[in-house]
Amino acid sequence: MRVLILGGSSEASALARALAGCSSIDAILSLAGRTIAPVSLPLPVRIGGFGGISGLVNYLRAEATDVMIDATHPFAEQMSVHARAAAAQTGIPLIRLTRPAWRAQDGDRWTEVADMRAAAEALGHIPRRVFLTVGRLQLAAFVSAPQHFYLVRTIDPVGPNHGLQTACFLEARGPFTVADEERLMREQAIEVLVTKNSGGTASVGKLEAARRLGLPVVLVRQPAGGLAAMHDIAEVIAALEAHHRPPAPRGV
Ligand SMILES: NC(=O)c1ccc[n+]([C@@H]2O[C@H](COP(=O)([O-])OP(=O)(O)OC[C@H]3O[C@@H](n4cnc5c(N)ncnc54)[C@H](OP(=O)(O)O)[C@@H]3O)[C@@H](O)[C@H]2O)c1
Repeated sequence: MRVLILGGSSEASALARALAGCSSIDAILSLAGRTIAPVSLPLPVRIGGFGGISGLVNYLRAEATDVMIDATHPFAEQMSVHARAAAAQTGIPLIRLTRPAWRAQDGDRWTEVADMRAAAEALGHIPRRVFLTVGRLQLAAFVSAPQHFYLVRTIDPVGPNHGLQTACFLEARGPFTVADEERLMREQAIEVLVTKNSGGTASVGKLEAARRLGLPVVLVRQPAGGLAAMHDIAEVIAALEAHHRPPAPRGV
């Protein structure tokens, strides 16, 4: 069975590792190509956009794909929309694998907002020291709030044209421990954390550290998805096996 995994998330990488060991499944992982040095995985990887919905439809047909798995990051909206449209056009089954969003716990001081612009506005007029972990492609919204100091943590370098007036840049790839996150926030005298509600375990440490330190968090909500999602790799593999299994012979 030929499976296309739309990747760019830790769930996609974990699924790719799991499927690499399945002899009946011929899986390929697709990445957008945003990360300079993606984690190496034991299965074929293709890199770069498909060229919109029609490009994806052509790809699925040319590769004789049997099942497509949308395991993109919860904030990768466009690819998910394209996957749904291409699945509808081709009739190829689509599975959505994603992580559940984080939920506030006792002691959390969260302000949930719809997008990056609202996050920048939620910081207010009084200058604050902000820990910004929203991804390097989302910094533009904060240029309009130059009164704040930003500690910006990204996986890849931000580059010179970020437009932020007072900022310090840190390159690091998670997972991060709660203790390390707490230490970093203390050392940098952080007053507020801004992040996306990405869910999952790899980057949840900063939320727990903020809770311990009593710091407010501005959290950008996940975009509403259009497909029932699976949160578990075993569940996805079971769905693939069910799809692959020939129908039981009818009794006479
Ligand atoms: N947005 C985030 O916060 C975030 C965080 C961590 C990781 N990521 C990962 O980074 C990638 C890009 O994120 P984004 O927010 O820019 O995505 P997006 O807005 O959903 O996608 C923009 C375009 O990038 C291409 N693309 C996206 N994912 C692809 C994939 N897995 N394989 C091939 N092409 C892909 C598609 O180009 P064509 O139209 O040409 O096909 C898509 O239309 C995603 O794969 C996502 O999983 C995103």
